Amino acid sequence: MPTILTIDDESLIRDSFRFYLEDYDYQMLEAENGRIGLEMIHKKQPDLVLVDLRMPEVDGLEVLQDVHENYPDLPIIVVSGTGVIGDVVEAMKRGAWSYLLKPIADFNTLRYAVEQALEKARLIKENRCYREELEEKVRLRTQALEHSNQLLRDTRMQVILRLGKASEYRDKATGRHVIRVSCYTKILANCMGFSEAEADIMALGSALHDVGKIGISDGILLKPGRLSPEEWETMQRHCLLGRELLSPLSVEDVEGFTSEVEGNMEGIISDSGLLQISRIIAYSHHERWDGSGYPEGLKGDEIPIAARIVTAVDIYDAIGSKRPYKEAFSEEECLRIVREASGIILDPQIVDHFFDSLDQIQQVKAKWAD
Ligand SMILES: [Fe+2]
Ligand SMILES: [Fe+2]
Repeated sequence: MPTILTIDDESLIRDSFRFYLEDYDYQMLEAENGRIGLEMIHKKQPDLVLVDLRMPEVDGLEVLQDVHENYPDLPIIVVSGTGVIGDVVEAMKRGAWSYLLKPIADFNTLRYAVEQALEKARLIKENRCYREELEEKVRLRTQALEHSNQLLRDTRMQVILRLGKASEYRDKATGRHVIRVSCYTKILANCMGFSEAEADIMALGSALHDVGKIGISDGILLKPGRLSPEEWETMQRHCLLGRELLSPLSVEDVEGFTSEVEGNMEGIISDSGLLQISRIIAYSHHERWDGSGYPEGLKGDEIPIAARIVTAVDIYDAIGSKRPYKEAFSEEECLRIVREASGIILDPQIVDHFFDSLDQIQQVKAKWAD
């Protein structure tokens, strides 16, 4: 049973409304001025308000203003005898849903206005519930999607880091070299003005710089003394092997797999940005700025930028790490070597950025020490 509040200073009017509307199953409330009316709205939460304009204490316009601000969905109908067009306009401006003139000649007009306003309020409410329900559904779906995206990103990162670690274990190192190289790469890429996404992809790709070492035999990889020219040539092949390992898979590579395990063939053989960067880094991280590196002997800007960054941080980290065949250099010596390699082995601009972000680099070195 909808509740209707009449706010009017004339008791006769309030009574007439009550007598008439009670017959149509409305529950009636009354207030003799705006102040009491607002209190009742707050306490009783009526479904509709009928308000007079001219009243002592708080008048109808103030009630309208308050309802409009605090109960925007509460239907409020002005019933006033002033008959001045200015009042009607002002009342509508302040949020009146409709306007009736007193005295009311035909009470059906009142009932009709009440029914219309209640129906409109019901539709507004229904619409909002529907919208909120929809928004909630979208929110939940988005959340689920974000969660599975995050899961995918995490899994991808794990697979890459584990593969990077695997290549490092072949070298009898601890697995932290790839983590440090990744972090340094990100710091340098940020410092050089690459976007966050680009820096992330380079950092992740750098973890695979030596993945080709998986294909080099122990006899060469772990040989304590100097390598013979043939052995050295084989050792250098880790760049090529890395590139091959990170090239897009062929249909033959995955055919057997997808026939047994659920998977999308096109997705599996496609070449991603991450795969491309990893491949470039794996292939070119031993090139030197002066062209004396391998496998291509590229020079200066010919060497892809991501590879130039990794060369710098890989050398810095390798010389500062203990390996079965060598002791670690002191930090001072490492920095001297990096500085001296500028313009010969390393891109001088990258070396500048390296020293610009040295504080961050040394923090990573301390945090991820072997
Ligand atoms: Fe390497
Ligand atoms: Fe390395």
